[in-house]
Amino acid sequence: MTQIGKKNMPKENDSKEIMDRKLEHLKIPLEHDVQHSKNYFSDIKLIHHPIPDVDIEEVDLSVKFYDKKISAPICISAITGGHPVSKEINEILAKAAEEENIIMSVGSQRAGLEDPTLLDSFKITRDVAPTIPIIGNIGIGQVSSLNFELEDFNKCIEMINADVMAIHLNVLHELVQDKGDLSYKLFRKNFQKLREINNIPIIAKEVGTGFNQELALILDKLGFDGFDIGGAGGTSFAAIESKRKNLNNQRYTRDPAEVFKEWGIPTPISIIYVRNVSQKLIIATGGLRTGIDIAKSIVLGADLGGFAYNFLQSAWKDRKDNSISHTIKEIRTLKNELRSCLWLMNIDEIAKLKGERDKYVILGELYRWLNQ
Ligand SMILES: Cc1cc2nc3c(=O)[nH]c(=O)nc-3n(C[C@H](O)[C@H](O)[C@H](O)COP(=O)(O)O)c2cc1C
Repeated sequence: MTQIGKKNMPKENDSKEIMDRKLEHLKIPLEHDVQHSKNYFSDIKLIHHPIPDVDIEEVDLSVKFYDKKISAPICISAITGGHPVSKEINEILAKAAEEENIIMSVGSQRAGLEDPTLLDSFKITRDVAPTIPIIGNIGIGQVSSLNFELEDFNKCIEMINADVMAIHLNVLHELVQDKGDLSYKLFRKNFQKLREINNIPIIAKEVGTGFNQELALILDKLGFDGFDIGGAGGTSFAAIESKRKNLNNQRYTRDPAEVFKEWGIPTPISIIYVRNVSQKLIIATGGLRTGIDIAKSIVLGADLGGFAYNFLQSAWKDRKDNSISHTIKEIRTLKNELRSCLWLMNIDEIAKLKGERDKYVILGELYRWLNQ
C-alpha cells in the first residue's frame, strides 16, 4: 500500500460531530433561505424558433457520461451520507435515479472512512442502483492532509463501486466553519500520487463558489478528467454555516459566514471560464432550478446539469411519504422542461445545443462581468 502519511485513529467525538453536522446540513436549506440572492441564469436568454422541424417526442435527450449512456444530461449532485437519515435520503435518490437512468452522487465519504457503522449510508446507493453511474465524493481537506492514505481513496471507490470520483473544493466552507481544514499545500503532490495509481475518472468539484480560469487550466493539466462547476447562484454553504451555532460566528463583531454568503463566481461565468481552457467534461451545478437552466448551461459549454437543492426538497418529501414519487416527478419535470426548451429552439439532440454561440444572448450583470 502506498502511503501519503501516517493515519491517526479517528476519535469518537469527531465522528459524532460529523454526524450532527450532516443532519444540520440537510435541515438548514429546507428550513431557512440559504440561497444566493441572485440566480444568474436569469441573465441568459435562449433564442426562440417559431416552427420546429421535428415533433417534440423526437427530441433525444440521451447522452454518454464517460462509458455509460444515460437518459438525459441530469445529475443528482452530492448531498449526503454519514447519518441514518442520510441513508434514507440516499436510498430514495438512488432508486429514483436508477428508475430514470440519470447520474447519482453521494456526499462526502469521509464519515464512512472514519466510522464503519456509517458505511451503509453510502453503500445503499449501489445496492439499489446497480446500473447507473454513481459519483463518489471526498474533500480537498482529506486529500491535502498529511494523514491521507491512498488506500482511503480506494475505499471510497469500493464503498459504492463508484464509476467516477469527485474531489470537492470547499475552501470557503472550511474557512467559515469551526475546525475547518485550512491548509492545502500538499494537495497537488498528494493528488499526483493518487492520479498515478488510479484509472478511475476524477472530477474537480466546487460546492457553490465556482472555478476561475487560471485554476481550471492548472487542474486540467494536473490530470483531472472533468469539472463540476458548483458556482454561485444557488445554495450558499457560507449561508448554511451562518445558521449553525459555531464558534466562528461569535468570535468577531460580524459573523464571517454571514459576510461571505454571496461570495463566489456565478455558475454561467464559471462554465465559460472552464470551457475556455479545457475540453474535458463539465457538470454545471449551482443554482440550476429548471430544465431551461440545463439548456442554458449546455449552450455555454457544459455537458450536463447538476441539482442538489431540488433533490434535497423532493427526497425530504419522499422520506415523509415513504415513497420515491416526488423525486421521480422532479426528474421527469426537468426532462420535460429540457425537451420542450430544445423543441422551441428547433434542436433535436443535446449535442446540437452544446456551445452554440448563436443560440443565446447574455444580458445584465453577467454581460458586464464578461465584458470588463
Ligand atoms: C445539504 C447539502 C449537502 C451538500 N453536501 C455536499 C458534499 O458532501 N459534497 C459536495 O461535493 N457537495 C455537497 N453539496 C453541494 C452540492 O453538491 C452543490 O454543489 C451545491 O449545493 C450547489 O447546487 P444547488 O444550487 O443545486 O444546491 C451539498 C449541498 C447541500 C444542499
